[in-house]
Amino acid sequence: MSVLKSHLYAMSAYTPPLEGRDPQQYLLLDFNERTLPVSENVQRALIEYISSGRMQMYPAYGDIVPRLAEYVGVEPSHLMITNGSDQGIELLFRATCSAGDEVIIPVPSFAMYHQCAKVENAKIIEPQYTRETGFPVEGVLSVISDRTKIICIANPNNPSGVAISRENILRIAEAAKHAAVLVDECYFEYSQETVVDCLVSHPNLFITRTFSKTWGMPSLRFGYLMASEANIQALLTVRGPYDVNQLAVVAAGAALSEPEVTERYVTEVMRESKPMFEAFLDAQAISYWPSHANFVWLFPQAPERVEQALVAAGILVRPKADFEGRMGLRVTLGTREQTERLISVLQGVLAE
Ligand SMILES: Cc1ncc(COP(=O)(O)O)c(C=O)c1O
Repeated sequence: MSVLKSHLYAMSAYTPPLEGRDPQQYLLLDFNERTLPVSENVQRALIEYISSGRMQMYPAYGDIVPRLAEYVGVEPSHLMITNGSDQGIELLFRATCSAGDEVIIPVPSFAMYHQCAKVENAKIIEPQYTRETGFPVEGVLSVISDRTKIICIANPNNPSGVAISRENILRIAEAAKHAAVLVDECYFEYSQETVVDCLVSHPNLFITRTFSKTWGMPSLRFGYLMASEANIQALLTVRGPYDVNQLAVVAAGAALSEPEVTERYVTEVMRESKPMFEAFLDAQAISYWPSHANFVWLFPQAPERVEQALVAAGILVRPKADFEGRMGLRVTLGTREQTERLISVLQGVLAE
């Protein structure tokens, strides 16, 4: 007899291939991470905190919420911090879904949405993205029902990098006023596209963001969720009082005091590395999805061979199949120099 909810025994854990990724050995282009470590300023803040004799205390979050709210441009009452943006996503599922409720997840997309929906035993409806037409706006609108509890919109999406316009996000939010519309802005600093200014006019919007990508600290697990004041108050009852660890708050606070470090990196990736890599793919006639983020999902001939050759040359990328089962490679872009190295290795592999 099962002690836990019986459907959990039929699920498998979400286990991305994280082990053995040594940044001294490999150029890590497999998890959409920043390819440069955190600044000395952030490192110093962490060391100072660790040395200050306060590790044995529970965390206190100080002014991090108002500081983040100022960075984003929202009222502090519209924002809560979370243990990575994954926790924001999970809180929303826990707070909205019961067994049998419907969740709309356009596919392919980020695996956590499915994981959270399955934990709640929700029914998952999956309109499909296409490379040509992007986000399935009409597909989503046509499956909204009275039972819809969450509509997941990753903007831009992972693994494809496809963006959806704010007009279409708002159309969906208006068509599903009874449901939560999750807008996952994990890659916001790359795309600069947001609906954060619509939280008052559209109180069913829930926006998640993170310090895991552009800010370069996924190991510390720091994210935030933005919504209407009433919805933030309600979600704070679900989040634990110490769920976000103190080192994450210290590091995020230090990083927020030098946003130019993040901006410089974003500019290099988006203005130099990505156009250079796309020009290379075009020249090689390799197809890829149009991306608004720091990664590109490409479909070379013999992707397994290409991936193995990249690993042998010390570069990790992420194999990801599309919905037709065709294998592609999701490649994160880093600095200009790293992208030149990537292109030079790929040139050799493709010429073989
Ligand atoms: C679309 C999307 N949302 C959320 C996350 C998770 O981010 P975090 O590290 O903040 O939990 C990822 C990570 O890859 C992602 O691609």
